[in-house]
Amino acid sequence: MHSDVAVLGLGQMGSALAAAFLRAGHRVTVWNRTEAKVAPLVAQGAHAATSAQEAQHSAPVVVACVLDYPALAEILDPALPGILVNLTSGSPEQARAMAGPRYVDGGIMTTPPGIGDQGSMILYSGDQDAFETAKDLLSVLAEPVNLGADPGLAALYDTALLGIMWATLTGWLHASALVTADGATAQHFTPLATRWLGPVAGFISTYAEQVDAGDYPGSDATLDVHLATLDHLVHASEVRKIDAALPRLFHDYAQKAVEAGHGTDGWARIIELLRAKAA
Ligand SMILES: NC(=O)c1ccc[n+]([C@@H]2O[C@H](COP(=O)([O-])OP(=O)(O)OC[C@H]3O[C@@H](n4cnc5c(N)ncnc54)[C@H](OP(=O)(O)O)[C@@H]3O)[C@@H](O)[C@H]2O)c1
Repeated sequence: MHSDVAVLGLGQMGSALAAAFLRAGHRVTVWNRTEAKVAPLVAQGAHAATSAQEAQHSAPVVVACVLDYPALAEILDPALPGILVNLTSGSPEQARAMAGPRYVDGGIMTTPPGIGDQGSMILYSGDQDAFETAKDLLSVLAEPVNLGADPGLAALYDTALLGIMWATLTGWLHASALVTADGATAQHFTPLATRWLGPVAGFISTYAEQVDAGDYPGSDATLDVHLATLDHLVHASEVRKIDAALPRLFHDYAQKAVEAGHGTDGWARIIELLRAKAA
């Protein structure tokens, strides 16, 4: 083995990963299905493997970052001798199906420009001996956050965190549609929106304890109050001909909880409806 790490897949993310390893002074082997993407990394000092299999035998740690798990299955060598760190996005079930010695799954919680920044995080879970062996190497990519031995946990947390991102982004876009309908600009409104995220983060921390306890006291604001306020959001959307599907979803959850007799509970009570819906 002539390299410290091999990177399989040189798309936008794989190229950023390989470049960060090179910047940190590591010996890096790279491979990509489409050869054209190899040249910029070779120019930065990487060794180009002639096949995916050769790459997997060139280093004790192989970092894979291709489109999805089927793509990975096409190139993965069952006789891979070293540690596989799989940074390809997938479901927790797909990650658990890969479980085994020397397998570490990862979820990258940034975009390519954030690779190499210690303010970014990458979630890992899987074989703990393998993770400890690769940890120093991986730390040049972003802060490594170890979630333990269950190989599915990194993918589960990754997808759950992305859910928060999409909910937040769409909530902000809905709010922006609302205020711009009356002539305000998104840029004028957004500093207030980002400031508001601070208190909302505080609510979440309080509610986490309630979710774990299964007890949702409405000591800060009751569902009765939320429901009355949600009426305003639905109304304001409809009057401005803005899609009210999102506020109506929140409204209907609150109404259902109130109708079930939980009007004096707090917003965290909604988790019971989310769970019931999935069952
Ligand atoms: N970009 C982000 O911000 C970001 C953030 C977090 C996680 N991720 C995850 O990182 C992974 C890669 O994303 P990306 O943004 O780098 O995507 P990308 O730029 O589209 O690159 C996709 C990579 O997968 C390879 N690939 C696709 N099908 C393949 C196959 N059948 N066999 C072998 N290689 C194949 C491509 O090879 P070719 O060059 O030959 O097409 C390319 O190297 C994805 O799982 C993504 O969800 C990305």
